Amino acid sequence: MSAPPPASPSRPRGPSAAQRYLFLFLVGLVAGAVATVMIVRALQARADRFPSSVMQVTQWHAGQLRARVEENRCAATDLLPHLRALRTLADDLEPAFPDLRDDQRFAQAASQMRRTLDASLASPPLDCAGLESATRDIGNACRACHQDFRG
Ligand code: HEC
Repeated sequence: MSAPPPASPSRPRGPSAAQRYLFLFLVGLVAGAVATVMIVRALQARADRFPSSVMQVTQWHAGQLRARVEENRCAATDLLPHLRALRTLADDLEPAFPDLRDDQRFAQAASQMRRTLDASLASPPLDCAGLESATRDIGNACRACHQDFRG
């Protein structure tokens, strides 16, 4: 009859405490990153995209006018579509920023933008020098509002 084997003095081999903590730490890190992305996405989905969309499209048309000056292509057919688009978008300023529409300075800046564009449409620039000064007026109208209201 043989004696039972002596109990092994060493602990069963497995991950050490430090390894287990590291693993839990990494799981927590990944879960936290995933949760953060999900929360940010959800907040973005709830945000109203209309105001920044109006501004982005406005920016594009204003950029087109500046590009025509640089390209020296300043015929009425090159300009009028963009001036008309800017004028239409200027009507959307108040609906795009409903919280600001009652602010006197905002209302004035929006009116000034429309007045500037009405003037350009009433007597459209005839050459690039004329277009350059029209784009400067339009840029000033953008700035007049942005200096007070663009955060
Ligand atoms: C009457 C006010 C007003 C006028 C005029 C105006 N803007 Fe703005 N614009 C704003 C406000 C307010 C914001 C800030 C929006 C925000 O941060 O939510 C803004 C933001 C912007 C932005 C950033 C949009 C984004 O994605 O957040 C651009 C680009 C822009 N404007 C372009 C223009 C250009 C170009 C013009 C002139 C042709 C113009 N704006 C005229 C009020 C105006």
